[in-house]
Amino acid sequence: MESDEKPYRRPVAHKFPLKYLVSMGDVPRVMQEEIFQTADQMQGVVDLRSGLESLGGKVIALIFLEPSSRTILSFQAAAARLGASVIVHQTASASSLAKGESLEDTIKVVAGYSDIVVLRHEASGAAARAASVCSVPLINGGDGGNEHPTQTLVDLYTIRREFGRLDHLKVGLGFDPLHSRTIHSLCRGLGYYDSNEIVLIGPEELFLDDAALAAMTKDGLSKVTQTSDIGALRECDIIYLNRFQVERFADQEVARRYRDRYRITANDLAGSAVKLILDPLPRIHEISEEVDELPQAVYFRQAEYGVPIRMALLSLMVASGV
Ligand code: NCD
Repeated sequence: MESDEKPYRRPVAHKFPLKYLVSMGDVPRVMQEEIFQTADQMQGVVDLRSGLESLGGKVIALIFLEPSSRTILSFQAAAARLGASVIVHQTASASSLAKGESLEDTIKVVAGYSDIVVLRHEASGAAARAASVCSVPLINGGDGGNEHPTQTLVDLYTIRREFGRLDHLKVGLGFDPLHSRTIHSLCRGLGYYDSNEIVLIGPEELFLDDAALAAMTKDGLSKVTQTSDIGALRECDIIYLNRFQVERFADQEVARRYRDRYRITANDLAGSAVKLILDPLPRIHEISEEVDELPQAVYFRQAEYGVPIRMALLSLMVASGV
């Protein structure tokens, strides 16, 4: 390593302060509980269409080098409701990265301009690299096909609020287990709670390998199975659907071949065990529009929970001053 900065290390503390949120592996259960309880209070502020001044004078850097709508806007809304200012960099082509600057150099400079950095990047592992040189707290806003921990905190918070518990669940996740960072992080998140079983659903070309499945049971999930049968969703308490991540496909033909088959309709769900339907959005092919009218469809509320959760994270990470 050329830099004399300390490399990124997993935190050992089990509650805040948390300096780097790179993976769901960084957020033990007690820390999740603190985030959820703080988010409940932040939801009260949002419900009043009001704001706090708790992060007045703070600067939040949003470095988003891959497309984003919900993640970037909910971070901006969260910052606004906490009285903080944001500085935004949204495309790699408009930044010095296009001139050949390394991610590490960019992050070192941005850390000098801000009190916390949120990074979205197309490369798996980019957030850990960035954290290893970042002198201020850093949050992974999605690193390629690897992880998206803040989305998982939103997902777990949604299940907690809408279903009342985070354990003893059977959760079906589709339809791109291989490339979906939201699926990867949610599996890790569910592994923290007792007796959660997951069923991964998608075309065989997009299956996870045996080592990845074994790692999930080692991470705490009670049972992990994988199937190409979309009908398996009917037996789940909760289903979590995410589009094919075509930007990460080597062969675009796979998406074209399976787009219609991996789409749930209201008919598919009639008389099923499914109590909750989640989707990190954007919705592309995976959910037919009439499903929106079903009482189980909570994905637009899930997107709204992005604001209180990110308010909680920013507050807990910036205010602690690590
Ligand atoms: C997800 C992402 O970026 O991974 N979007 C989001 O953050 N809500 C899901 C996706 O793009 O499919």
